[in-house]
Parts: sequence; C-alpha cells; structure tokens
Amino acid sequence: MNANPFRYMVMLTWAAWLCAAQAQPGSVTNGKAIFESRCIACHSLDANRVGPALGTVAGRVAGKAPDFAYSNALGRASHVWTREKLLAWLTNPEDLVPGQAMGYRVDSDGDRQDVVSYLASLSLNPGAK
Ligand code: HEC
Repeated sequence: MNANPFRYMVMLTWAAWLCAAQAQPGSVTNGKAIFESRCIACHSLDANRVGPALGTVAGRVAGKAPDFAYSNALGRASHVWTREKLLAWLTNPEDLVPGQAMGYRVDSDGDRQDVVSYLASLSLNPGAK
C-alpha cells in the first residue's frame, strides 16, 4: 500500500468534523422539542405571551423584550443572556435574579444544555453562542 495524500486529507477532514461535533454542547433538535413541549406554555419565539418572546433572547440584555411587562427585578437586570446565564436561569431563576417572576425550572442538565443550544441557534445577536 502506498500512502495516498488524498486519503489523509479525507481522514483529517473527518477528524476535524468529529471534534467540531463534540464541541457542540447540546442537541439543537432535542432543544427544539423541549421548547415546543415545555416553554411554549408561556413563551413563543416572536410574540410576548405569559413570558417574553425568546427568538432573539440569546445575546440580548435581560429584561428588554420590547413591550413586555417584566417583574421589577428582571426589568432592572443588566446582564447579557450568554449561554452560562441562560443555563443558570433555567437551573434556578430565583438564584440568578431574586424577585423574578418565572415560576419554572428545568431539572435535567442535559435538557438545559439542549434548550439553550436551540435558543442560541435561532439568535443572530452577537455573543449568542
Ligand atoms: C409558567 C410560565 C413559564 C414557563 C413554562 C417558562 N417561562 Fe420563561 N418566563 C416566564 C415569565 C413570566 C418570564 C418573565 C419573568 C420576569 O419578568 O421576572 C420569563 C422569562 C424568561 C427568560 C428571560 C427573558 C428576558 O427577556 O430577559 C428566559 C430566557 C426564559 N424565560 C426562558 C424559558 C425557557 C427556555 C423555558 C422552557 C424551558 C421557559 N422559560 C418556561 C414564564 C415561563
């Protein structure tokens, strides 16, 4: 067998692709399913309902969806919804923003990772990923 540079190229491309796939911290597909079964009771992507619209939440400053009547606590918050902040919020919103008004948590870390990956995949805001 003689070494075929093309074969090495293919292998390297595969290796790079596998690394990229592993770096993806959650499954967007599963996150979409979670959003559509659990968050949808209160949220939509493009309209305010019981909770604010979430289609552009990743990378947005907290408490700033136009025309949504936030709790005073979340309305006063000034952090950006990074991946870490979204994960902390879904773990325990009251720990992150005491006095907030979302009475909902996601208990499984895997589910939190997935739903945050889904929200990040939708948002075009800088810093969303
Ligand atoms: C029972 C209703 C309810 C459910 C279910 C719910 N939320 Fe919320 N959510 C709210 C409310 C109400 C607020 C606004 C809280 C406030 O003003 O303090 C909110 C706020 C948020 C915010 C902050 C948005 C911003 O503009 O700062 C995020 C992020 C969020 N929810 C994500 C989720 C996700 C993801 C799910 C599903 C896993 C979910 N929520 C499920 C009611 C809900």
